[in-house]
Amino acid sequence: MANPLHTLGYRLLSASLKENTPETGNLSRLSRRAFLLLGTSLTSCSALTFTKSQAADLFKTGSNSKYRTPSLGGPVPRNPDMSLSSNFSRNAGISFSRVMVSGNYVAMTFDDGPHPQNTPRLLDILRVRNIKATFFVIGQSVDLYPQIIRRTVAEGHEIGNHTYTHRLLSKLSDSEIALDLLRCRDAVVRAAGVHPRTMRPPYGGLPQRQREMVYNTCGYPTILWSVDPLDWKRPGPSVVSSRILHATTSGSIILSHDLHAPTVDAMPATLDGLLRRGFQFVTVSQLLAMKSEALTAQADVPGDNSINSL
Ligand code: NI
Repeated sequence: MANPLHTLGYRLLSASLKENTPETGNLSRLSRRAFLLLGTSLTSCSALTFTKSQAADLFKTGSNSKYRTPSLGGPVPRNPDMSLSSNFSRNAGISFSRVMVSGNYVAMTFDDGPHPQNTPRLLDILRVRNIKATFFVIGQSVDLYPQIIRRTVAEGHEIGNHTYTHRLLSKLSDSEIALDLLRCRDAVVRAAGVHPRTMRPPYGGLPQRQREMVYNTCGYPTILWSVDPLDWKRPGPSVVSSRILHATTSGSIILSHDLHAPTVDAMPATLDGLLRRGFQFVTVSQLLAMKSEALTAQADVPGDNSINSL
C-alpha cells in the first residue's frame, strides 16, 4: 500500500523540478522544515520520527482539517488505492441509505458525471476544503471525459458505478443489468485504473431481488441516500443548500448531482455549513467500513416505487 507521505513527497520533489507550475506555487508555501521531513520519509519508512502534531501540521489544509482515513480494525479501503477488489463481506450488507457511526461522519455523493465544466469546478471546491467525496459516474460520460476521472481519483475521491447507460434497471433483465454495470466498470478502469466498489442504481430504482443479484454477481452493495435535496429539479442553490443542511445527521449519505451547475453553485455554502456543524467528510466505502454492525441502518431505503429523476 502506498505510503501517503511518499506520494506527497514525490509530488513535491517533482514539482520542485518544474518552473511556473501550480504545484511549484504550493511548494513555495511549505516550510523548509516540512519539505525536509517529507524528503526524509522518502528514504525510509523507519525514518518517520516526527510527532503526530508535526504530521498534522504538514497535512492541515482547508477547514476539514480533522479529516483522516478512519483507523479501524482490518483493512480500510482508502483512496486512491482503489485497485483493491470489492471484498465486502456479506455481513457488510446489500443496500444502504445511511450508516450509523460513532462520530459526525457523513458521505457526500455526486451522481451523473463527469461533466466537462461542472465536475472540475466541484473538484476545486472540494480540494480547498480537503473534503473527499464519492462520485457515482455514468460510463458513457467516463468514456467522453476520462481525464476528469483521473483527476477525481488522484485527488482522493471515490468512484462508484452508476451504470454505463443510465437506464432504469428494474426494466432490464439480470444479464442486461450486469452488462451495463460491467461496461461502466470497464470505462472507469480504462480511465483511471481503479475499480468501483459500490453502485447506485439510476433513479434509485432497483428492487430488492435485483440488489441481491447485483451484490452476488458484481460484488457491489447498492448505495442509496438519506438526504435528498431534489437538486435535479433545480430549485436554486440556496434551497439546495438549505435542504441539505437541515436534513443531514451523523452517518448521512447525501445525494446531489455534479451534472447540474446550480448544484455546484450550492456547494461552497453547503459544505462550509456542514463543516461549521462539526461534520467530517468521508467516502462511501469509508463510511461503510466505519459502521457499527449493531446499529447499521441496513435496507433503510426509499421504497422501490420512489423513483425520481436521479
Ligand atoms: Ni443518476
